[in-house]
This record gives sequence, structure tokens and C-alpha cells, in this order.
Amino acid sequence: MSTQLTQQAKEESSSQSESETTEVEEQRQEVTKNVTTDKETYHLKVFRYDPEIEGKKEPRFDDFHVPYHQGMTVLDSLIYARDTYDSSLTFRHSCRQAICGSDAMFVNGSQRLCCKTQLSDLEEPVRIEPLPHQDVIKDLVVNMEHFYDQMEAIEPYFQTENLPDGEFDEQRQSRENREKIKMSTRCIWCGACMSSCNIAAEDNQYLGPAAINKAYRFAMDDREGDEMKQRRLEIIEQEHGVWRCQTQFSCTEVCPKDIPLTEHIQELKREAVKNNLKFWWNN
Ligand code: SF4
Ligand code: FES
Repeated sequence: MSTQLTQQAKEESSSQSESETTEVEEQRQEVTKNVTTDKETYHLKVFRYDPEIEGKKEPRFDDFHVPYHQGMTVLDSLIYARDTYDSSLTFRHSCRQAICGSDAMFVNGSQRLCCKTQLSDLEEPVRIEPLPHQDVIKDLVVNMEHFYDQMEAIEPYFQTENLPDGEFDEQRQSRENREKIKMSTRCIWCGACMSSCNIAAEDNQYLGPAAINKAYRFAMDDREGDEMKQRRLEIIEQEHGVWRCQTQFSCTEVCPKDIPLTEHIQELKREAVKNNLKFWWNN
């Protein structure tokens, strides 16, 4: 099921990947243009933990000094440290373009995507840790199963009761409706928001900002129809759903795709209230 969901997420973001790649590249060029640092090396303090190796079971920090080049990201520096000093240093990464969502970590006290974070923007030593509030498997790799379970709980795929009649007819979406859900479709399932959320840290069953944002993406999509929207609102209204959010904005602050998560959660709360009023009015 996780594979299926991951595929769903990839499809969700694939339509944007080309423009977002350009966007990331433009941001990178902008940053490198303004770099004023004359540093030759950067000092990293990297969290290490390996429960399977005797002598490495106690968490610790290792120091690495990596040669700096203009435009170097935190991910570049980790790759250098691994390839040059210690091949056992373990972390996830893939696209290096802020698309796959695999390299969210806790860098200098904040959840960040390492491939999108310039070393020159950080104070030294650069402290790199796994995402907080997740079980650490090894070094910087955390167990994402719980996060995927929460995403799965909101049925993160398009469902509609209004299929067009003809086999080849399109089910069209208005420009305004596409604009409304645009930001919510940008999620890359990195887990940074969930890791930053105090409520999720306290309540293991809380759906969390990423799952609620995904519910918003479908609940606000007019093509799914009213019945489906009601069903989605019932899911997010459950005991550990939207009403747990205390509007702390931590998720919005760390989201690397700039999704207005808190705003979306608030809007779903309003939709849920409207839905309930409609129910009482009609009965
Ligand atoms: S909402 Fe943002 S921070 Fe949360 S998983 Fe999606 S991209 Fe990552
Ligand atoms: S490596 Fe894919 S998002 Fe950073």
C-alpha cells in the first residue's frame, strides 16, 4: 500500500516537477550570486547512531570539516563527508532538486530539506540531526511508517461520483478551482511539518498537517462532488483530526514547499462547521 501511495504522491508532483526544478535552479542561482562568504571549509557536527554495531549504540556527534565551494548545499556537504571520510555515514537522498522529499533533517535547530539549504546561510558549526519526534533507524535516517500511515488514513487519491458520460470525455476543472488547490498539491511527503508539530509529538494519533493538507487538496477539488466532500470532512473531523490543531504555525514555517498549512487547516475547520450546520438545519 505504501508503494501505491508513494506512486500517488509522485504522480501528484510530476505535473509540477519541471517548473519546480526551474524554480529551485533559479533560487540556487540567486543565492550563489549573492554569496559573500570567503570560507574554505565548513565544520559539520553530525548525529551518529547505529543500534546494530557494538560501540556505536550510544548516540554521539561526529565532526567533519568539508571543503566549501560556491552554491554548496547541506546535502552536498554530507555526501562529501560520506564519500571522503566515513562511508558508514547514513542518510536518505535522491533527486537533489527539492522534489523527492527524502532528505528532510534537523539542521541548526530547524526542519529543512538538505538539498535546498545553502551552507552559506548557516552558522557554524552546522549541526545536522535526524527529524525530531521520529524513531531513528540509523544516523540521520528515521522511520517514516507512522507518517505514511497518517497520510493513508485520509485516502490520498482522487475519488469522484461524477465521471463524464463518454469514454474519452474530459472531467474539467475550472481555472479558479485549480488555483484554490494549487499550493496544497505541492506536498512532497518530506515529513518536516509533522516533525515540527508539538501536537503530533504529544498525540501519536493526530493526523498531522501533511495529511490534513492532503485532505484539503481533495475536499476542495470540485470534481470529487458533494458526497465525497462530506466523507472527507468526516474523516478530518474525527477526535484526532483538525480540531487538535492549536494554530502554532510551526508546520507552515518549516514547509520547504511554502504550503500555507495552518491556513488550510483553519479553512477545513470552517468547512466542517458549515457542514454540521447544514446537517442540523436539514434535520
Ligand atoms: S506539507 Fe510541506 S513539510 Fe509537510 S510533508 Fe508536505 S512538503 Fe513536507
Ligand atoms: S534529495 Fe530529493 S528533496 Fe532533497
